[in-house]
Amino acid sequence: MKNTAVIYIALFAFAIAVTAGVFAEDATYVGNGQCKICHNKKDEGEAWTKWKNSPHAKAIETLNTDAAKAAAQKLNLAKAPAEAPECLKCHVTGYDAATGKAPEKIQTADGVQCEACHGPASAHTAEGKKFKSGDKDAKPGEKIGHPDEATCKKCHNEQSPTWKADRYTLPDGTKTGFDYKQAYAKIEHNNPLKKK
Ligand code: HEC
Ligand code: HEC
Ligand code: HEC
Ligand code: HEC
Repeated sequence: MKNTAVIYIALFAFAIAVTAGVFAEDATYVGNGQCKICHNKKDEGEAWTKWKNSPHAKAIETLNTDAAKAAAQKLNLAKAPAEAPECLKCHVTGYDAATGKAPEKIQTADGVQCEACHGPASAHTAEGKKFKSGDKDAKPGEKIGHPDEATCKKCHNEQSPTWKADRYTLPDGTKTGFDYKQAYAKIEHNNPLKKK
């Protein structure tokens, strides 16, 4: 009984974090080209370039490989992987499998881009512009999602047809399909000018 209650509370907290807490309300997707304008300075950690060189930016190319075709064949998909909603829902930012569409400003070819993790960022972009033009009251950091492990696990889970339960090894030798610490280290794009 006690354990069940704990699980329910945990699930409830998770649902709230996913649906409301993480992303700025009423914001729409702007696309990574916007982020590049303000987040690609070398001394600030080149977030855009790091993303561009990461596996996430190549998530569509990956759907054209033989491995992808093999995975799709097993599932008997009606369409090629790079056009199948069953694959695009995790390989494209904000893709809606029900309508078969990505948000207006999102290019499918860019795969998993900034707003897949940070959430739709039109409000942040507007606030960032105010900040850059000297508005001391502008708070861009409050209008953008701060992703965490739960964000990653919306895609990094057993529903991935190429999921490997032993992809990661924890310090104590345990195998796991996803380890946030090690996985984030592979796509790290922190700003070295900011002390955490
Ligand atoms: C007009 C400039 C501008 C644009 C465009 C912009 N940002 Fe920002 N962003 C800022 C400023 C200014 C800050 C606050 C100072 C900083 O942390 O560099 C910031 C901070 C952030 C932070 C850190 C928040 C924190 O406090 O830890 C994230 C994450 C972020 N932006 C993501 C994005 C993403 C994703 C995009 C594209 C969808 C984007 N930004 C577009 C200007 C911009
Ligand atoms: C919208 C879905 C989605 C989200 C959210 C997401 N990923 Fe991914 N991730 C993918 C896809 C799809 C690939 C495969 C890309 C490829 O190889 O073409 C991938 C690949 C990776 C890889 C390379 C494979 C590996 O495990 O070594 C790492 C590392 C990674 N993601 C880390 C993260 C982290 C850390 C987060 C959360 C902060 C995250 N991802 C959030 C979809 C996502
Ligand atoms: C639940 C989200 C999800 C769905 C749905 C999904 N993928 Fe992925 N895909 C991922 C993630 C995350 C990765 C990164 C590797 C991992 O952790 O599984 C990935 C990686 C891949 C890879 C690279 C192989 C590897 O081991 O890195 C291929 C190929 C692939 N996906 C094909 C597909 C195909 C084909 C479909 C549709 C039939 C599909 N994916 C649907 C999330 C997904
Ligand atoms: C796969 C998920 C994922 C993608 C894609 C992604 N980010 Fe992030 N980003 C994160 C996570 C997680 C953190 C927080 C790390 C932390 O708390 O230390 C972060 C942190 C940041 C920060 C704050 C850095 C700091 O040290 O203050 C900025 C700015 C940022 N991201 C911008 C971007 C931009 C721009 C893009 C696209 C070009 C992008 N991110 C793509 C997951 C992602």
